[in-house]
Amino acid sequence: MQEVFMKRALLLARKGIGFTSPNPCVGAVIVKGGEIIAEAYHKKAGQDHAEVLAIREVMKKSGIKTVDLEPALFHNAILYVTLEPCSHNGKTPPCAKAIVAAGFKKVCIGMKDPFKKVNGKGIKYLKEHGVEVELCRSGSALADEIRSINQPFIKWAQSGLPYLTMKAGMSLDGKIATCSGESKWISSELSRKHARLERSKCDAVLVGAGTVRADDPELAAHGVYKNKDLIRIVLDAKLGLPLSKRVFRDDNVIVFYTHEANSKAISEFQKAGIDIRKTTSDLAGLKKIFKFLAKRDFQNIYIEGGSDVHGKIFDLSTRSNGLLDRVLFYIAPKLIGGSKSLSVIGGNGVDKISKALNFKNVNFETLGDDIKLEGEINIY
Ligand SMILES: NC(=O)c1ccc[n+]([C@@H]2O[C@H](COP(=O)([O-])OP(=O)(O)OC[C@H]3O[C@@H](n4cnc5c(N)ncnc54)[C@H](OP(=O)(O)O)[C@@H]3O)[C@@H](O)[C@H]2O)c1
Repeated sequence: MQEVFMKRALLLARKGIGFTSPNPCVGAVIVKGGEIIAEAYHKKAGQDHAEVLAIREVMKKSGIKTVDLEPALFHNAILYVTLEPCSHNGKTPPCAKAIVAAGFKKVCIGMKDPFKKVNGKGIKYLKEHGVEVELCRSGSALADEIRSINQPFIKWAQSGLPYLTMKAGMSLDGKIATCSGESKWISSELSRKHARLERSKCDAVLVGAGTVRADDPELAAHGVYKNKDLIRIVLDAKLGLPLSKRVFRDDNVIVFYTHEANSKAISEFQKAGIDIRKTTSDLAGLKKIFKFLAKRDFQNIYIEGGSDVHGKIFDLSTRSNGLLDRVLFYIAPKLIGGSKSLSVIGGNGVDKISKALNFKNVNFETLGDDIKLEGEINIY
């Protein structure tokens, strides 16, 4: 495998980030005589996969409608694709079949597809039909980079849970609001713009009732993602939030409530046509919420506070391996102080340093005067 071509396929795959869910981001290039003759990436779930688009591109350039008209077209070509080609009939026909039909003799693959309907079956199909398959060396820097762009998809396929990112704008002393509850704004406009774009790459954004009450956030998608239907998930135990809050502006919202909600509130939410789901207020109930969301194909969830919700997710994560996966903290050069002002993570916390959540990868950069700190707790 010539890494330069797989790197190009990876670069193309990246273009799909934030658009392809519940499908993974995939890029493909076709190489002939040492040169790239076609390249493509998967743009959206339900649309054609990268490898099929690349094959079609070559045929278009050659002016032929079916490969039968020029059976040798792909004989000396190598297909580079970042993810194992699918082998099942999903929203589109199996790519492995299209690759064999095109006449490829060699395919280089970035990683095996963990999705259980594929999971090696695409590779098996290719090999059974005389195609040489070369997989990117597991553990190599390139293989890790290929996995890194599809972390939510991999976690979801392997565990049936969504990938969770906790985001917060905070002061240097870890506060997300003052003692009077004021939180606008701790981090800079530049940080908030960055955070909104990171949110927009996800499938859903989750907040607690305290945050909706205090800030009335819009929780919308922005930038190139602005037309995306980002789902808003609200934890509102008592269903006490006014329906005039912006999170309830359209159907893209799911509200979880507990036994604390009275029948009047339940019927008001129902009358407003809001999707409400009963849960229990304990940590087991919270885990069930995430399992439910994963079943609904939400792979990538952005947690936007507040302190109580962060604390519960943290507490659950210290008990339940693999729940919280990444933090994205925008740290402003301010001190807020006060034992009554809210800390970024409430809840019970851990009693021993040995039980703290540790990061495997930490990246930080400055955004104006703020520090953006990103850390991964789990790598899939
Ligand atoms: N700087 C930042 O980045 C940032 C981000 C977000 C928020 N904030 C600030 O944080 C503050 C809000 O934080 P907070 O800790 O007070 O509130 P919160 O975490 O936003 O919400 C807590 C509420 O969520 C509900 N809830 C929690 N777990 C639940 C579950 N398992 N099922 C159903 N409902 C559940 C409960 O609603 P009930 O009220 O119905 O019991 C609970 O009181 C605000 O001041 C806000 O401005 C800052």
